[in-house]
Amino acid sequence: MRNLKLSNGYEIPQMGIGVFMIKDHEECKQSVLNALKIGYRHIDTAQVYKNEKAVGEAIKESRIPREDIFLTTKLWPTNFGYDKAKKAIQNSLDALQVDYIDLMLLHRPYEDYIGAWKTMEEEVGEGKIRSIGISNFNISRVQKILDVAKIKPVVNQVECHPYEQQKELRTFLEKNDILMEAWYPLGHGNKKLLSNPVITELAKKYGKSNVQIILHWHIQIGNIVFPKSSNPEHIRSNFAIFDFELSKEDMAKIASIDKRKPYFNIPEWVQKIMLNFSS
Ligand SMILES: NC(=O)c1ccc[n+]([C@@H]2O[C@H](COP(=O)([O-])OP(=O)(O)OC[C@H]3O[C@@H](n4cnc5c(N)ncnc54)[C@H](OP(=O)(O)O)[C@@H]3O)[C@@H](O)[C@H]2O)c1
Repeated sequence: MRNLKLSNGYEIPQMGIGVFMIKDHEECKQSVLNALKIGYRHIDTAQVYKNEKAVGEAIKESRIPREDIFLTTKLWPTNFGYDKAKKAIQNSLDALQVDYIDLMLLHRPYEDYIGAWKTMEEEVGEGKIRSIGISNFNISRVQKILDVAKIKPVVNQVECHPYEQQKELRTFLEKNDILMEAWYPLGHGNKKLLSNPVITELAKKYGKSNVQIILHWHIQIGNIVFPKSSNPEHIRSNFAIFDFELSKEDMAKIASIDKRKPYFNIPEWVQKIMLNFSS
């Protein structure tokens, strides 16, 4: 396991487990428990996943000291606005059964995200959140946060994998000391990405699986990753990636397969209508 240092001095395990779309309470709890047993110490959830309670139960049942686990959740835009955001943050703390959240993100840059940022800053002051960050923010929106922030975002969580490598955004974030977190690190399990010929060739060369090659590429470019899995064997093998390094030439090979194409490519105005947000 490797830790990265956030700009505010806290450390974050570079690899964790994600729980997006695990709606079943027991399935989510078991995935997190399995991961913690294997050695994962970083969990990525969100209010909108509706599984914070299961994550909290797994943490409690694991008996691992709270301070050894890095816990991220995300504030959904319907919870933006001073009073609503305060209440939603308290609801997350209650569901997760913790006194503090390690990292809270603005989930999407809709509605009054500047106001929501200020509320999160206040909650850092009150000790309910340690670090704050953003998710799905493009360069101009990151800049809008930086223009008003008393506390800088420590991460930006965006879709990132070998077919959408986010090179321009990464350069901008690096300049501003913001780490990139990769969602859809495995393209949401997309078979075409997982069986890409370059990845397959490297898997043979290093004696690893295709998934392990992709996850290690994330680690080597400095991404923070939390692949979702409910499968105990996948949870185990996804974590067994810290015993090899890809050469410079092989990293360049993966850089060359970038299609600059996200899988989640619904236009923002359609997303807003779907999710009932104002434009
Ligand atoms: N901020 C955002 O807007 C946002 C959006 C989406 C996701 N996220 C976060 O990012 C995390 C990861 O994204 P994701 O869950 O959508 O996609 P992902 O991690 O890229 O892919 C998950 C899929 O890959 C499969 N998989 C995992 N390990 C595997 C392995 N070793 N071999 C073969 N298949 C494997 C999983 O199936 P099994 O369960 O069968 O292993 C699942 O179908 C989420 O859980 C969430 O925490 C954030």
